[in-house]
Amino acid sequence: MNKNYHIVTLGCQMNDHDSEAIAAILEKMGYLPVTEPEEADIIIINTCAVRKKPEDKVASLLGKYAALKEYNQNLFVAVGGCMPQQEESAIYLKNRFHHVNLIFGTHALPRLPELIHTAKEKNETVIDIKEDYAERDSLSVIRKSTFKAWLPIIYGCNNYCSYCVVPYVRGRERSRPMEVILAEAEKLAAEGYLEITLLGQNVNSYGQDLQNQKTFADLLFALNYIEGIERIRFMTSHPKDLSQKLIAVVQEGKKVCEHFHLPVQSGSNRILEKMNRRYTREQYLDLVKNIKETIPGVAITSDIIVGFPGEEEEDFQATLDLLERAYFDNVFSFKYSGRKNTAAAGFKDFTTNKVKEQRLERVNKIQQVISKDLNKLLFGQAVEIMVEGPSKNNREILTGRTRTNKLVHFKSHKDLTGKLIMVKITEARTWNLFGELV
Ligand code: 5AD
Ligand code: SF4
Repeated sequence: MNKNYHIVTLGCQMNDHDSEAIAAILEKMGYLPVTEPEEADIIIINTCAVRKKPEDKVASLLGKYAALKEYNQNLFVAVGGCMPQQEESAIYLKNRFHHVNLIFGTHALPRLPELIHTAKEKNETVIDIKEDYAERDSLSVIRKSTFKAWLPIIYGCNNYCSYCVVPYVRGRERSRPMEVILAEAEKLAAEGYLEITLLGQNVNSYGQDLQNQKTFADLLFALNYIEGIERIRFMTSHPKDLSQKLIAVVQEGKKVCEHFHLPVQSGSNRILEKMNRRYTREQYLDLVKNIKETIPGVAITSDIIVGFPGEEEEDFQATLDLLERAYFDNVFSFKYSGRKNTAAAGFKDFTTNKVKEQRLERVNKIQQVISKDLNKLLFGQAVEIMVEGPSKNNREILTGRTRTNKLVHFKSHKDLTGKLIMVKITEARTWNLFGELV
């Protein structure tokens, strides 16, 4: 009889890609994928620790799986990724959810097959949260998409922004050698992939830990020559080390998409300093100006944290003012969530939840007007989109993305998924665009 697996992925694109590696490991062990946890023999939750919300989600999922285990004694439940990489969380999970068979951190992927075998034989929860940077380049992956692929270029983070858990759960920066990345991109092209997204917590520090002193701009430049790859994306950029050379490569490189995700976090210099971001609002706004002047039609998106400890109304006003000046295409905004072990966990946080909620709303209200205004600029234009698939409710409506990463819906009788096509924009909304096939 077949054995089935089910993976739930929380958090960022890096986690999504790690889940593609977990899928490959499980399939090698003879498991087949299922979409419903009820049909699974093994369930793996790949967790995120960046805010409290995704951590709460883990507890609620584990509650559900405990009930499933009542019917299926042999159901194997594992929790992996960023949350248990913190020892306190691993211990909490072990003590609170006795039905969990295996707890593993972000560094344990290469050991996963043995860990599953060991945990199956034992009557207690097995834990592996060693921070040992085991070699991952030999791991294979099973990608969800057949036309776009994640391609990690640098693991970990050395920045220690005071609110952020990532350096603690993903370890120090490790760049993958340029030859390895280029070879992987060549292979993806040969397999028919059209788009690659280069991943890293901070892609701009790519290469700083390598012997040959290659930079992220060098890497992008070289990737441009790979035949078959039509679009190259990258995320996330840290404003403090985004080089002029990189802006030039995005401008010149035909395949590099004109989009920067450039989290600003706050518009107040006082808060930026407490966040340990190592740039000022003036430097950030100069950078945005520079990018927009050099690359016509570029899209810039950003992240904002509201209610960071000590954020006064005046600081928050500075953030709203920055939104008006930077004029982002889109912004992802979050309420500050205290994370253990981080520097900010020790800062006094007097802002009430109600005020944080109101600040989120105020950010969104301003940003919605800006997003729509920028989207309207595309009205009547013919743009290239990569078709990602039919919409859930109506198979005759397809969805694609512009090079600037904007969603476009359009009607088509033919399924054009995975194709690059031209559409003319006929309607601009806040979150998406509508168009017709050219
Ligand atoms: N609280 C709220 N938001 C956070 N982010 C990271 N850490 C926290 C935190 N402790 C946000 C930042 C980051 C995005 C991925 O998540 O805006 O850019
Ligand atoms: Fe979440 Fe950060 Fe881990 Fe991604 S790297 S899953 S955002 S904690």
